[in-house]
Amino acid sequence: MRILIHSDYDRLSKWVAHYVAGKINKAQPTPENPYVLGLPTGSSPIGAYEELVKLYKAGKVSFKNVVTFNMDEYVGIPEDHPESYHFFMWDNLFKYIDIPKENINILDGNAADLEKECNDYEERIKKVGGIDLFLGGIGPDGHIAFNEPGSSLSSKTRIKTLTYDTILANSRFFDNDVNKVPKTALTVGVGTVMSAREVLIIINGYKKARALQKVVEEGVNHMWTVSMLQLHEHGIICCDDEATMEMKVGTVNYFKDIEREALADLPELQ
Ligand code: GLP
Repeated sequence: MRILIHSDYDRLSKWVAHYVAGKINKAQPTPENPYVLGLPTGSSPIGAYEELVKLYKAGKVSFKNVVTFNMDEYVGIPEDHPESYHFFMWDNLFKYIDIPKENINILDGNAADLEKECNDYEERIKKVGGIDLFLGGIGPDGHIAFNEPGSSLSSKTRIKTLTYDTILANSRFFDNDVNKVPKTALTVGVGTVMSAREVLIIINGYKKARALQKVVEEGVNHMWTVSMLQLHEHGIICCDDEATMEMKVGTVNYFKDIEREALADLPELQ
């Protein structure tokens, strides 16, 4: 697993956006052979999305032949609710870029049969040939997508009950009222994310410091579901200095040293 410790969130976001755009460009995707991205919501990826929009507007990348699969969606709130993940994705990324609407996949938290919706989602991922690069963020308890502590590390897309910690953390988007936060969500599984050919997780800010310490310095554990990344062949964590607060000085210095070349420059776009 690669750990890239960036000086701050801006630098991290630029790096991630350049990395993603470079991967799309290198793949030279076509309608028959698109580049398939897994995407997260939350505050962590917002900076990278802004940078991707800038790169698109500068003509450095196109999303015409990119297919996306979002990680998760709340159950039971309308798609046009400002806190739905559908709304978030349009508002922060899709409306600014040239991705065809039919290439966008987001779980439907209002489907009549939620279980079928989840199984179909896995089928859709398979049908397009799997996910090339899954981007993700984490919750303060180390959850990936909505795979709360204790989730099976080989889980697939399904319905999950949210923990009180997550409901509390996300209540900031619902007038700070925990009662307004949906109690369940549809989410890809840890296994779904790990089946991607590459996984890149953004971990920024001191609130994520404990989780980062667990995933980097301790073992694979279902209580910190992102720790499964240790077993992925091509796993990358992009974090900022703030998030490393709980790690040993020696660990931080080690990763800064072995990644010094990657950290010095932004990834190439071609
Ligand atoms: C929610 C989402 C996760 C996301 C997490 C962290 O729980 N389901 O996918 O990673 O929030 O959000 P933020 O990036 O705002 O800290």
